[in-house]
Amino acid sequence: MRKDFLSATDLTAAEYRSLFALAGELRRQRSPPRDLAGRTLAMIFEKPSLRTRVTFEAGMTQLGGHAVYLAPADIGLGSREPVADVGRNLERWVDLVMARTFAHVTVEDLAASCSLPVVNALSDLEHPCQSAADFLTLLDHRGSLDGLRFAYVGDGNNVCHSLLLTAALFGAEFRAATPAGYGVTDGVRERARVVGAPGFSLLETHDPAEAVRGADAVYTDVWTSMGQEAEAAERRRVFAPYQVNAALLELANSEARVMHCLPAHRGEEITPDVLEGPRSVVFDQAENRLHVQKALLLTLFRNRPHGLPRERPILA
Ligand code: CP
Ligand code: NVA
Repeated sequence: MRKDFLSATDLTAAEYRSLFALAGELRRQRSPPRDLAGRTLAMIFEKPSLRTRVTFEAGMTQLGGHAVYLAPADIGLGSREPVADVGRNLERWVDLVMARTFAHVTVEDLAASCSLPVVNALSDLEHPCQSAADFLTLLDHRGSLDGLRFAYVGDGNNVCHSLLLTAALFGAEFRAATPAGYGVTDGVRERARVVGAPGFSLLETHDPAEAVRGADAVYTDVWTSMGQEAEAAERRRVFAPYQVNAALLELANSEARVMHCLPAHRGEEITPDVLEGPRSVVFDQAENRLHVQKALLLTLFRNRPHGLPRERPILA
């Protein structure tokens, strides 16, 4: 097991299965374990958040611990002081770190600079906590991840990358319909092929209908991610044919689940009737962020390196 959770491929399929089992137990228990009593999670945000912030903070509270929210203006990660210095300070005080960053290398540098477990809470490249919650949601609804046909429609962004990598680990069929120039990055495609379990396949197309036909899950995300606001008008034009609406959903398996990481822009990437419709599981996904991240915090903490700086005296 790795020290950090920076990419969806930092856990194996077997480790995801254990994580999902623990998340299920935590969800059922009226009195969750208090293993994190007296422990602190530092939460670094370079971007806004509702779900990520609240689920990590509530999750720490429920496990007996405490979370400290560090807003973009509070610490000036990489500008007020180097990323590595932030990590080297935090390891003297806290037990776990999560960070939402622009550049993916920022969360990697943070992890490399300290002996604490570091969680990627969304970077421009990946959103692995989201994909973990999403696959738990599919497991809840389907009872199994075997033979999964997953369609992603829209921007080949951070969420798409982590979903693709998780699908690869579970040997799923992944179809991505994106406009030309907005597909998945080469590095993520290559990584998916390297980690792909038997059964994994990747279809990349510009045709949403080709991706969605017969799919078990139809997933979309915003057309303009955080940090891309200046491109919003151009993106609305380019992505207009990639809306998840009732006509597109007709092509999917009759049992297909509609998924979205939220926040959603109704009338852009998804129509209100589909988002609110009977096949939508978007609020189950949001709920599962809490359960899966509690399981992740417990797992990373129990597996943490021994001899953390804050656990040994400065002078022997
Ligand atoms: N899905 C998700 O990560 O939501 P927030 O940006 O609100 O945290
Ligand atoms: N792709 C979106 C996900 C938000 C949870 C973004 O990065 O803004």
